Amino acid sequence: MNLTDPARRSVPRTAFKRLQAFGRIVSRHGGQAFLVGGPVRDILLRQPLRDIDVVATHPVEPVLRALANQERGLIARRSAFLTFKLSFPDGTCMDVATARKETYPQAASLPVVEPSEILHDLARRDFSINAMAVELGPRHFGELIDPLGGEMDLAARRLRALHSQSFQDDPTRIYRAARYAGRLNLRWDGDTLNWIRSALRLKMPAQLTTARLSHEWEKILLEQDPRATLKILDGWGALTFLDTNWHWKRTHARTLRPGKNEKATLSGRLLGWCRPFGTRKAEGALAHLELPAPVRGEVRLGLGLLENIEREDPLSALGAAKAPESVRNFLSQNLPAPLWKRVLRSRPLLSGTDLMELGAVPGPELGRILAALTQARWRDTVRSRRDEVRFVIDNLRGR
Ligand code: CTP
Repeated sequence: MNLTDPARRSVPRTAFKRLQAFGRIVSRHGGQAFLVGGPVRDILLRQPLRDIDVVATHPVEPVLRALANQERGLIARRSAFLTFKLSFPDGTCMDVATARKETYPQAASLPVVEPSEILHDLARRDFSINAMAVELGPRHFGELIDPLGGEMDLAARRLRALHSQSFQDDPTRIYRAARYAGRLNLRWDGDTLNWIRSALRLKMPAQLTTARLSHEWEKILLEQDPRATLKILDGWGALTFLDTNWHWKRTHARTLRPGKNEKATLSGRLLGWCRPFGTRKAEGALAHLELPAPVRGEVRLGLGLLENIEREDPLSALGAAKAPESVRNFLSQNLPAPLWKRVLRSRPLLSGTDLMELGAVPGPELGRILAALTQARWRDTVRSRRDEVRFVIDNLRGR
């Protein structure tokens, strides 16, 4: 099957040309080049690509240098797994790897890799739907390589792991399985489900490092709609490896509902996940994970503000006004609409500069007047800008 036409529809024009250029350069160096994994799956699903992963059966460094020169790209990242990231001036990236074989020295450890041919590279992968490649060399450009039946599985909406040890070698695949099933609405191949269950009985995820578990958790939360995936993981008892208290609650259906036209952020989604557990439990759980410090801060801020607003603390209106967008979105989606309107309405119209122009001294006095003004707006005794000016002047007179 030749996928040139569907690939043209799924891959942006410049990226498509770069795939052709990559294929030509690798071929000139005497190797073979392929688009592999997720992008091939997404082309078959007629979806736009999420990222561009390519491999070459030839040491990729010289190829990378040639491609970077030709396309003004930058070789941005190298990892221990014969992989590189090329970024281009238009802001797009391409993940480039040497086709490889993997062996796992022990379960749940990172693999040892060695260069190999494309068939081995496909056989080492997680699921048949991710184990397909498309030829990029000029002679066979666009030809699908599908030795493990990925296309049939995809058409049948079936998730099938490639061998019985897959989830023990790499327990992150348990979370990946739930993520693909949730995202693409897949059902299980019988053996695959048994292999997942036996890896869970052996508590394999407990052997993963916190960094790897946290990374999987981030990817799940950042799915367009993570709810189906989370329910699947809960059904398997796999969420407890992230925190013993974690499980799917009915209210998650609401707190994690994707906002219309809203790009998911990690802090926004974590807030949605933590909300049904309450602040104290949530903080304990988040302490186990490796999360970026600003994200942790935003989650703490959002949960704290939510509690304060629910207690009808007028000063929370000041905090909410200054909070980052993800926190404000969370608050607007999780508070009763009249209460959130009250929060928004309570933010004074006068700024700190306005207050200083009226004679307030910067420092504690300014803070005190701003707080009093917010409280007055919360009680609705001050409504307009003119009311505010009068309120401030009265307040300053009384000092
Ligand atoms: N892969 C694997 N086992 C893993 C992680 C990755 O076999 N534990 C393989 C899969 O073939 C996968 C590819 O490496 O398609 C790239 O990994 P990743 O970018 O995580 O997967 P995508 O399928 O591109 O995921 P997504 O659609 O979520 O971007």
